[in-house]
Amino acid sequence: MKKLLVAVAGLTALFAGPALAQNYPTEPVTMIVPFAAGGPTDIIARLVAEPMSRFLGQQIIIENVAGAGGTTGITRGAEAQPNGYTIMMGHMGTHGAAPALYPNLKYNPAADFAPIGVAAGTPIIIVGSKKVPAEDLQGFIAWAKKQGDKANHAHAGVGSVSHSTGILLNSMLGIKSTYIPYTGTGPALNDMLSGQVDYMTDQIVNLVGQINAGAVKAFAIATPKRSPALPNLPTTKEAGLGGYEVSAWNAVFAPKGTPQAIVDKLSDALSKALDDANARKRLDDLGAVIPEGAERGSAALQKLVVSEVARWTPVLKEAMAAQKK
Ligand code: MLT
Repeated sequence: MKKLLVAVAGLTALFAGPALAQNYPTEPVTMIVPFAAGGPTDIIARLVAEPMSRFLGQQIIIENVAGAGGTTGITRGAEAQPNGYTIMMGHMGTHGAAPALYPNLKYNPAADFAPIGVAAGTPIIIVGSKKVPAEDLQGFIAWAKKQGDKANHAHAGVGSVSHSTGILLNSMLGIKSTYIPYTGTGPALNDMLSGQVDYMTDQIVNLVGQINAGAVKAFAIATPKRSPALPNLPTTKEAGLGGYEVSAWNAVFAPKGTPQAIVDKLSDALSKALDDANARKRLDDLGAVIPEGAERGSAALQKLVVSEVARWTPVLKEAMAAQKK
């Protein structure tokens, strides 16, 4: 039955596509954010959805659908009608790491979507609660190795960015912490502020405010160069852990079969949003890396997804094996 429905939807999109696209959008568009409100994916989504709404002439309504490291929401988005009225904000976790960690993943990141474009690159920061008795990365590493499984390590669900970059850090350091899953790193950060969790590896856009307020301890940023948003935060290389260089990205997808003319309208609206002065300032202030030129659009995103799945699959399988030893 489902195959028949998909076939009918595909034929509709094929024949009705041009007519559908001509006036698209004629009603509000839902953007699924596969994590809890307030975290990095939600922050990026709301930041780009506002100007996109202006350029599309219809409101983009954010719907937070959390669970299973973001794969619950992305699965719902992949199965939505391909008519342009349901899109989703995926990222390096849902569309890069997930296949390695979910043997029965209900979607193929490289085949089941119409990629719209990258919204932002998001460098990863190793961050701890103020209760962690360390003032730099080496101090944190020494503490974490001594704590072992007494260290509470927050993440946003198996396969999320915070989970995949977290197990990578642990496996590099030979640490076996206690993993504490959340529906997003927004809620995880709240618990870090109160000292209920000790550390996590999270996307910069979620952390800049709390780091600048001195409410959490940032130990290093895992990019080759420092972030202009946090000029005093050393890179992992400067702090003696050069092998740990990881960055995430957030990107907009539509379901496979969405008419090309609609995909093009959405890609154009996203690109215009990334050129919007207010959006650019807010993204810069949060340490996001704005894609420019050839980094934008469907083809670039499709290429990124294929390369990220290929890159993360062996890395995570090895990290997971190391964690089980
Ligand atoms: C993650 O993958 O860790 C998510 O981006 C966290 C979030 O957006 O809440």
